[in-house]
Amino acid sequence: MPSLLILNGPNLNLLGTRQPEVYGRITLDDINALCAAEATRVGYTVDCLQSNHEGALIDAVHAARGLHGGIVLNAGAYTHTSVALMDAISSAAVPVVEVHLSNIHARETFRHKSYIAPVALGQICGFGAQGYVLAIQALVAHLGSGDGSAP
Ligand code: DQA
Repeated sequence: MPSLLILNGPNLNLLGTRQPEVYGRITLDDINALCAAEATRVGYTVDCLQSNHEGALIDAVHAARGLHGGIVLNAGAYTHTSVALMDAISSAAVPVVEVHLSNIHARETFRHKSYIAPVALGQICGFGAQGYVLAIQALVAHLGSGDGSAP
């Protein structure tokens, strides 16, 4: 069965207790379980990985080549700073859908800039955990459903 990588960046391990007024009470484990359920529904498996380290996220993007059909990426604050992560996505040539729990365009100006967006298939933000489910659906629409039939 084809697989997707659910990749989360810095501070997202603290979901559930981190600024609940912005990010809600859902934990990263809950989000990963949601992703696994949606992936199963559409014929995919998921690997879920979180790191607070930029280099580890870059390594994960490189390692996805040939292993995962696509990546759902919430790069957290590295979204707004990391040319290196942007380059990794361009170099690995694995399709990425960018996700944010919050609507980054309705927040501070420094969050409006995304280095991921220009190299992603698209960006989903502002829908909380549901954004990850939408991102899986968008990736599968791009890749084709896991049973080999057209999406
Ligand atoms: C975030 C938005 C980023 O600006 C922030 O740095 C995060 C979380 C989101 O999911 O809304 O860590 O990516």
